[in-house]
Amino acid sequence: MNYNNLHIQEEDGILIVTINREKALNALNTETMLELKGLFGEDALEQENLKGVILTGAGEKAFVAGADIKEFLDLDAAKGAEMAKRGQEIFALIETFPRPVIAAVNGFALGGGCELAMACHLRVASENAKFGQPEVNLGIIPGYGGTQRLIQYVGKTKATELLMTGDMIDAEEAHRLGLVNYVLPADKLMDKAREIIQKTAKKGPVAITKIIETVNAYFDKEEDGFTREVKAFGHTTGTEDFKEGASAFIEKRQANFKGK
Ligand code: CAA
Repeated sequence: MNYNNLHIQEEDGILIVTINREKALNALNTETMLELKGLFGEDALEQENLKGVILTGAGEKAFVAGADIKEFLDLDAAKGAEMAKRGQEIFALIETFPRPVIAAVNGFALGGGCELAMACHLRVASENAKFGQPEVNLGIIPGYGGTQRLIQYVGKTKATELLMTGDMIDAEEAHRLGLVNYVLPADKLMDKAREIIQKTAKKGPVAITKIIETVNAYFDKEEDGFTREVKAFGHTTGTEDFKEGASAFIEKRQANFKGK
């Protein structure tokens, strides 16, 4: 796929994906959403030996300031529902992506931007990052999973307050609430994201994928997470990697995982 709004760079097995609409604070217009779909639904899935993906925003001010409000004026009830459905499906591709996806939140993560960060597996934030679901200011609610995932991360009490007031919280508060994994000075942000992916890349690749699946299963009302864990555990014990990992432990050497 050709990407007009995503800058994609491969670096030592990591895809560094920058949402590149700095003048609009990296707002997610339709074309950007379709590019995220092409990336997480096809192109990145086909990438061999991919260690993980880091998602960030261009410039120093914003990760993503939300869905593109300039595309909102011709929305009606039917088009709005369709937009939310499509957006949720695209963010689900990120949440279920088989390799780790880290949001490196380098500024405003508002509305669809906060929702995008929450769809990633982990979040690192710069000290100047700000999070919020300000949709109520526009007379709408979040549509890309924000009402559901915010509760998962910060609990019903705080999520309801943030959704109802549209208030922004800073990176420290987001960390205290459990919304982000680490807060760092802006110039250390990308290194921290790289460090986490390089660490996970040394583990059994099948195990990492199964962790993503089973953690997601906890929140899936159609699934019993414990049953899913039994199946996934069984799957990992049947891999060559498990034999290699166990042998390496016994032989007191570093495991050489193959992802098989
Ligand atoms: N959509 C489109 N353009 C946006 C945008 C957005 N979400 N956010 C910012 N921009 C544009 C501004 O229009 C402006 O463009 P122009 O220079 O052409 O006017 C440019 O980015 C810079 O923005 P500001 O001048 O507003 O910058 P600021 O520093 O004064 O304020 C801000 C920064 C607080 C983030 C402010 O831009 C803002 O409140 N943005 C909107 C945030 C928002 O409401 N997000 C939710 C969108 S709805 C949604 O996401 C629904 C969903 O769940 C799917």
